[in-house]
Amino acid sequence: MPKARSWLMLGAAPRFALTTLAEAYPRSTFHGYELSRLAVERARARVLDAGLTNVEIFDRRAEELPGRGDYSLVLTFDCLHDMTRPDAAAAAIRRALAEDGTWLVKEIRCDDTWAGNRRNPDAGMFLGFSIASCMSSALSEPDGAGLGTIGLPRERLSSWRTMPASHGSRSTTSMTPPTSTTKSNP
Ligand SMILES: C[S@@+](CC[C@H](N)C(=O)[O-])C[C@H]1O[C@@H](n2cnc3c(N)ncnc32)[C@H](O)[C@@H]1O
Repeated sequence: MPKARSWLMLGAAPRFALTTLAEAYPRSTFHGYELSRLAVERARARVLDAGLTNVEIFDRRAEELPGRGDYSLVLTFDCLHDMTRPDAAAAAIRRALAEDGTWLVKEIRCDDTWAGNRRNPDAGMFLGFSIASCMSSALSEPDGAGLGTIGLPRERLSSWRTMPASHGSRSTTSMTPPTSTTKSNP
């Protein structure tokens, strides 16, 4: 992990990642952006319970990030495929990253073809999750992208990373079942 000063987690549902990181790096500041008001309330309660003073949870969506180049590390874990406008979120992340910042993406490992996804023995389970949960979120607004659980293969993510931004980017990608993790350094 890099020595980060200002960290941002998007889709910051009230699980353990944000508070665990904030405890481990007490001199860094952590911001969480989350769309669901219920998730925001629970995440704030978790921060309070842990007695953390270096975490702030915002009731805002990823696309609303201010583009000031403030963040040295942005984390998106298992959330881009749930967003109605993940491309807009990706552009906002690029603007919000510091010049030497890193964007770490964890997504469900999948293929960009149906034939490729059918080779995955867990495809049926993922498609079930997708219909029951992820696509309900990703299609919840007019023109929602509707990517769903196995709708964000590495190729699509790479196309967003090469979108015009205030600075160039280079990246390394590693694939580990059942998720894919991508790190992008401007
Ligand atoms: C599957 S959960 C993953 C939560 C957490 N990152 C994890 O790994 O446990 C996806 C989260 O993304 C949030 N989300 C969806 N669209 C969003 C958006 N546009 N901006 C911020 N959060 C969003 C959802 O409310 C949900 O909490």
